[in-house]
Amino acid sequence: MTDDLLARHRAVLPSWMPLYYAEPIELVSGSGRRVTDAQGRSYLDFFGGVLTNMIGYDIPEIREAVERQLATGIAHTSTLYLIRQQVELAEKIAQRSGIPDARVFFTNSGTEANEAALLVATNHRRSHQILALRNSYHGRSYAAMGVTGNRNWSASGLNPLQVAWLHSGDRVRGLLARLSADEQVDAAVEDLREVLATQTAGDVAALIAEPIQGVGGFVHPPDGLFAGWKKVLDEHGILFIADEVQTGWGRTGEHFWGYQAHGVTPDLLTFAKGIGNGFALAGVVGRAEVLESVSAISFSTFGGNPISTAAGNAVLDYLIEHDLQANAARVGAILADGLRSAVGGLDCVAEVRGKGLMLGVEFVRPGGGEPDPTLTNRVFEAAREGGLLAGKGGLYGNVLRMGPPLTLTEEEAREGLAILVGAIRSCAGVAA
Ligand SMILES: Cc1ncc(COP(=O)(O)O)c(C=O)c1O
Repeated sequence: MTDDLLARHRAVLPSWMPLYYAEPIELVSGSGRRVTDAQGRSYLDFFGGVLTNMIGYDIPEIREAVERQLATGIAHTSTLYLIRQQVELAEKIAQRSGIPDARVFFTNSGTEANEAALLVATNHRRSHQILALRNSYHGRSYAAMGVTGNRNWSASGLNPLQVAWLHSGDRVRGLLARLSADEQVDAAVEDLREVLATQTAGDVAALIAEPIQGVGGFVHPPDGLFAGWKKVLDEHGILFIADEVQTGWGRTGEHFWGYQAHGVTPDLLTFAKGIGNGFALAGVVGRAEVLESVSAISFSTFGGNPISTAAGNAVLDYLIEHDLQANAARVGAILADGLRSAVGGLDCVAEVRGKGLMLGVEFVRPGGGEPDPTLTNRVFEAAREGGLLAGKGGLYGNVLRMGPPLTLTEEEAREGLAILVGAIRSCAGVAA
């Protein structure tokens, strides 16, 4: 019984690990883009375990690849031995990363991937100064939390890094809101120059940024902003780290990586979530010169293990063979256009934003910009009652987030859109 499970969960797991929904659900089976809970209710899944079930549920090609590895009797060897699938996946990722002479280091989580990126960047530059963005999220270790610009996700103030903060590119709130895209780029670049001159010793190691801020509510800067920043970074030799944990693998539709919207090439790129489609797989890609900046052994017991890299190869092959980036662009446009035309004009909707299959709706109190997390939560619960799982986010918890599997079909997009629009309009007190 789920009720019993909830009580047992609360008795043994920490309370700072939040559960979604007033009545938390247990998902017990899944197929394609649909999951079923312990009560037998079926849902269309627009959140995919936080953008992680990137291909969907029970995909034969991925299941069979993992089963083949299990059948060898070897689930783990450690990286002290050659791992064929790891080398193959590293070759594919290096080639697709857009980074010249790339090396790949595999980890188990996005946090560890960012930790590794920060390690090599700070070693390479012999500096522990980092530039990060307000409203960012990069993980839960000390360094990753240290570059996280969101109070709700900063569980400790202890920080091994010295961090200076840049504006996020938010167009709804903050000092640079409501500027035109060009004005915002100019202002953000000027801000970077000022931050470098006033808050650092000049020899900064790196700037780390998410092309679209995930936890931050899918806030993203105008295209080209990273290029404006990169020009200034290059004047100082400062490295650029793109955190592609949510934006990678074609999710934004228009590009394979989020950074490509800006016409720049990062020195380091971190990935996680979707590449394992549920298996723990993450890592960092970087120019050899930078990634080799480790003067001691650095070893991850489980990073890039035979099971997760077998899954990763199957995921990447499936993604490319089915051109899921193009699907994200096509199906994402149905969702984005549908949301904009049905709810974009409501007083309680500040913005419908995002790219491809990474879309957010920000809710505010009518007549002003005050965030409305209560309404957001009502919409979130109503969507579930209607049979759709979505996510929440944003600095103030007032953004509904959609990040479905990239295999989402047009019919499923229309079905989910109708549920979302119905939930938003009824919660906002507008006739459906
Ligand atoms: C952009 C980004 N970076 C890093 C992380 C941390 O990844 P993990 O939870 O796998 O440690 C997340 C997780 O949500 C994320 O969204």
